Amino acid sequence: MTVRIAPSVLSADLGRLTEQIERAVAGGAEWLHVDVMDGHFVPNLTFGAPLVRALRRVTNLPLDVHLMVERPERYLGEFADAGASVFTFHPEATVHVQRHLATARQLGMLAGLALNPSTPVSLLEEVVHDVDLVLVMSVNPGYGGQSYIPQSTDKIRRSRALLDRHESPALLEVDGGITAATIAEAWGAGADTFVAGTAIFGSPDPAQAIRDLKRHCAVKV
Ligand code: DX5
Ligand code: ZN
Repeated sequence: MTVRIAPSVLSADLGRLTEQIERAVAGGAEWLHVDVMDGHFVPNLTFGAPLVRALRRVTNLPLDVHLMVERPERYLGEFADAGASVFTFHPEATVHVQRHLATARQLGMLAGLALNPSTPVSLLEEVVHDVDLVLVMSVNPGYGGQSYIPQSTDKIRRSRALLDRHESPALLEVDGGITAATIAEAWGAGADTFVAGTAIFGSPDPAQAIRDLKRHCAVKV
């Protein structure tokens, strides 16, 4: 399994975004994570498709869009058109989850489903062949800079087991509180894709911070 790091632009200095992306690329970042928040599904407000469109013009990295919004299906077309590579949403935010996963694929994006800390892994049983990515939230979404919830490790393990049992090739991503101190545990439990905001862009040397995160995944724990 290879490690994939997805720096979250939520924690980047938006006034120097191009430079921050260059640093992430220099450190070996595989993806860029874009946190879309609507002030309803989560209390915070962030950005929308225009930022994805702007990022698409300045980087070739896949854009991993995480929608923390009510009725995310309203934005499927807009994000696909803006150049999103992954469209991940929360099942609590909508009714017809399977339909929206299928639409994301039809629009040429990877279809991702995010599990909040209190959302059961068993939900995946129903849509396992419709997802390209499972996002285990290791914090309650809404803000960067929160601490990794320790029970997330077992949840990652159970998600990995479910995907393996169904022979699903879906990626298993973790988001929230990922640092050099927590990444090895999540990697050891079977995650392959790691979102990190504060640990990368809160560091004076984002490129080195990414290398450090990867180094901690070199050995299985
Ligand atoms: C939290 C977001 C995360 C956030 C992670 O609601 O979904 O993607 O940017 O930030 P850190 O790595 O600082 O916990
Ligand atoms: Zn996120």
